[in-house]
Amino acid sequence: MRIAIAGATGRIGSQLAALARKEGHDVVEIARETGFDLLAPTGLEEALAGVDAVVDVTAAPLEVAGEFFPAVARNLGSAAAAAGVPRTVVLSIVGVDRSPDYDYYVAKLAQEQTYRAVAPGVVVLRATQFHDFAGQMLEWNTHDGVARIIDVPTQPVDTAEIASLLLDLATGAVVDDVELAGPQEERLLDQVRTLVERSGSGVRVEAVAGPASMAAGSMLPGPDALLRGPRWEDWLASQG
Ligand SMILES: NC(=O)c1ccc[n+]([C@@H]2O[C@H](COP(=O)([O-])OP(=O)(O)OC[C@H]3O[C@@H](n4cnc5c(N)ncnc54)[C@H](OP(=O)(O)O)[C@@H]3O)[C@@H](O)[C@H]2O)c1
Repeated sequence: MRIAIAGATGRIGSQLAALARKEGHDVVEIARETGFDLLAPTGLEEALAGVDAVVDVTAAPLEVAGEFFPAVARNLGSAAAAAGVPRTVVLSIVGVDRSPDYDYYVAKLAQEQTYRAVAPGVVVLRATQFHDFAGQMLEWNTHDGVARIIDVPTQPVDTAEIASLLLDLATGAVVDDVELAGPQEERLLDQVRTLVERSGSGVRVEAVAGPASMAAGSMLPGPDALLRGPRWEDWLASQG
């Protein structure tokens, strides 16, 4: 199969591209680094000629997410339709429909809705937080030796499982929308404390209030979610 990956140079995209190639597929890499700015695309329809599935794993910072996600969905989704691509796979987040108090999730929900309006054969994978999300939160929220972290429940998942399921959706081995989570619920605050203890950095971790929806569990998977991959602590131990 020929699979176009928007965001192919990113965390998920690079894993997905490597996996797809390993399994014998042709990959079209779409990112600014490979010459495609999805906010102002040129030559996109031509690049999608003969493509069997488009997968969107692009990302943008919170500050611009509200404009970025629907705009990329409109541009890429309509180019896929014009090029006759039969299937569009979108990576979203568990809880985007339950967190109207968090702008990034509002933007991701708008991304899903835009794809469903303009793109062909849309299937959505909603995943929980990546296993390395706690590390990112620690990095982003540490200033002057203090990490201020929202105290919310999460059920993180290994990114390898996300890449694998995205490929199954792209090939048609899985045909329906799906939720994916890891096997065990955690608290983000405790994960960050574990990381700080392991590093011996001496950073002080303080709890801060997050969006009320998230504190109430909006990021946790529903009863029909697939639970796959290692627990966060086992994954962490495997990272050395
Ligand atoms: N972090 C989590 O815990 C989590 C959980 C569930 C779902 N998700 C979702 O997973 C998705 C992928 O996240 P990630 O961490 O893998 O992203 P990432 O590493 O930040 O990669 C983002 C990708 O998007 C591309 N991109 C950005 N702006 C672009 C533009 N204007 N035109 C074309 N390409 C552009 C980047 O390439 P260039 O810079 O070269 O353009 C890069 O390849 C996101 O949509 C996120 O919402 C994240």
